[in-house]
Amino acid sequence: MVTFVTTNPGKVHEAREYLDEPVEQRDFDYLEPQADELATVAAHGAREAYKQFQEPVIVDDSGLTIDALGGFPGPYSSYVEEHVCIERVWRLVSEEDNRSAAFRGVVAYCDGNPFAATPEPVDDGRRGQDLSAEKRDSATTDDQVADGAIPVKLFEGVVPGTIVAPRGDGGFGFDPIFEYDGKTFAEMETEEKNAISHRGRALAKFADWYEQADR
Ligand code: IMP
Repeated sequence: MVTFVTTNPGKVHEAREYLDEPVEQRDFDYLEPQADELATVAAHGAREAYKQFQEPVIVDDSGLTIDALGGFPGPYSSYVEEHVCIERVWRLVSEEDNRSAAFRGVVAYCDGNPFAATPEPVDDGRRGQDLSAEKRDSATTDDQVADGAIPVKLFEGVVPGTIVAPRGDGGFGFDPIFEYDGKTFAEMETEEKNAISHRGRALAKFADWYEQADR
């Protein structure tokens, strides 16, 4: 059994579609660190949730990264959506030549045990905001154990796209200004979006590993 720590039942429903294992939802409120990377936020959440429940947990964090804005809003996506509004984000990006962006989702898994080193990023609990993906990938389980950190395994799903003027009535958040393959996410049916979404891609990677990994 895997416990998905989230307040959003929709995410749990989506996870069940990827995993053969039973997935249970639990709510748990913890302070999110201020960090430039979604992975840092998700890893912290997984550790806190594991400490709380003492059972295998997953936590996810996602957001929109805009290349011309140095990856902004990233982990600040929900704040920006609420307080700046997507129309103004579009206006900001419309002044740029490069309008490329990506939706990114990170699933963080923690069961208190170390993992065998794999090409997947393994969070070692010491990673600063500036640590590159390359260094992150080379972190080993031994480092983590020596460090006394609780190991967390990270799975990232990415959907590349382009920021456009708002179109479409569906979806939520930044969907109306994110275009993928000629359509904004808000112009897609839920099933169509879920089949390519960052969260789905991260969950699929997690499910692949979870079902065959020597945990
Ligand atoms: P969460 O981590 O999944 O709760 O997402 C944080 C924020 O990122 C949301 O409040 C949205 O602003 C943005 N976001 C994440 N996923 C999506 C998506 O699929 N479509 C639109 N916005 C998203």
